[in-house]
Amino acid sequence: MFVGFHARITEAFFFVLLLAILAMPTAAAGPGGELPVPPLLESEITEDGIRRFLLTADEGSMEFIAGHTTPTLGYNGSYLGPTIRVRRGEDVSIRVDNALAEPTTVHWHGADVPAEADGGPHQVIPSGQSWTADFRVRQPAATLWYHPHFKGTTAKQVYEGLAGMLIIDDAISDTLPLPRNYGVDDLPIILQDRRFDRSGGFSYRPRMPDIMHGYFGNAMLVNGALEPRKDVPAGPVRLRLMNGSNSTFLRLSFGGLESFHVIATDGGFLEAPVEMERLILSPGERCEVIIDLTGASGPVTLLTETNGGDAFEAVTFQPSDPAAAVWNPKDALVTVDTIHESESAKTRRFEMRSAMGARMTINGRTMSMDRVDQRIRLGDTEIWEIVNRDGGGMGMMMNQPHNFHLHAVQFRILDINGEAPPAHMDGWKDTVQVWPGDTVRIIARFDSYPGLYMFHCHLLEHEDNGMMGQFAVVE
Ligand code: C2O
Ligand code: CU
Ligand code: CU
Repeated sequence: MFVGFHARITEAFFFVLLLAILAMPTAAAGPGGELPVPPLLESEITEDGIRRFLLTADEGSMEFIAGHTTPTLGYNGSYLGPTIRVRRGEDVSIRVDNALAEPTTVHWHGADVPAEADGGPHQVIPSGQSWTADFRVRQPAATLWYHPHFKGTTAKQVYEGLAGMLIIDDAISDTLPLPRNYGVDDLPIILQDRRFDRSGGFSYRPRMPDIMHGYFGNAMLVNGALEPRKDVPAGPVRLRLMNGSNSTFLRLSFGGLESFHVIATDGGFLEAPVEMERLILSPGERCEVIIDLTGASGPVTLLTETNGGDAFEAVTFQPSDPAAAVWNPKDALVTVDTIHESESAKTRRFEMRSAMGARMTINGRTMSMDRVDQRIRLGDTEIWEIVNRDGGGMGMMMNQPHNFHLHAVQFRILDINGEAPPAHMDGWKDTVQVWPGDTVRIIARFDSYPGLYMFHCHLLEHEDNGMMGQFAVVE
């Protein structure tokens, strides 16, 4: 099992986790229900040609385990939200009504949008009020997502259920020979570990080790359900995988299938499918994969192993219907633009480190809403060198993985510890894993919009505890 992954966990870390896990009652997960597929959010195109959507963030309740009710949050429902689907070139207007008893924001993770539409911590929607994000979809087809980003309560609000998928289509994705029947052979798969308690539900109550090392769950929700099943065609099936966990890294593989093909990263398609047996997704990352069930003799199960040392059978796919789509793993997908190092105007360095008292820092500082950490000229290309300093240190702080997410742009990974990124990460990315002691260099063109944006660790407990900064794109 899990060699490279587990080897990175220190004994101290592991011991604390073990204690935490032993102290948790095991959820009597009620397995076997049908996989919920988030509905596509309806929209209306008004006379001005703008596609308009309405999201309402509200309180709800869920019975994840029969007979046990958990209070939750959701968009247009009790848990998670509908899938928003837009096309490149389209003008979009998304109104968000906040029916929660607390302030929130809605951020379009991975999207190229003006700063005032970004939904970061500055675009607050007070309880009972509305906010509208207006933007033109300018980027290629991709699987993005949306979630709250209010300073200090992002982790809690996501944990309680606020998250959804945002899919962009374009002329290329329309014609690629890939499964594209939403809910049938093209499935959103939102993975979230949750810590069920004796009440059969969960609530957000992190303690110091949870903030530092991860708020690990004792069960895995898939689109808000425990160990669900789904009948699928006995052919190629496309999974839009998203790690929607607060801070748990997930190693994914498929029981009953030797390998799968990765076709897309955070920001869109790869140049060609990459065959893999397993891959790790950090919180906030997405990838699209094809599992080919042609001739499969039985069910195929998505297995998720966590960096907390747990393994969950997340969701089972039962080949039952005749295949509709054709797919050839040898087919090329798209051309992904290379950004050459020589285009870079500047290199910036970011050191991620946890300090005493769960002060999570970047370059020694925790997030301040009043401080602009970096100023970038609109249109410049830059290299950002990101270092995880929580490796090789002392005691409990060592060997803590982080990741790094930038708003406003999609980037390419130049290298990880001096080596070219693995093929399945060699595409557009908005979130990159930064393992203990590692140095990751990314390159981006800051040609989006002027304004104030965030960069941060996407382990939500780290983000909420300061591992975030602001960059201003200036003309
Ligand atoms: Cu998905 Cu700034 O976040
Ligand atoms: Cu984001
Ligand atoms: Cu982190």
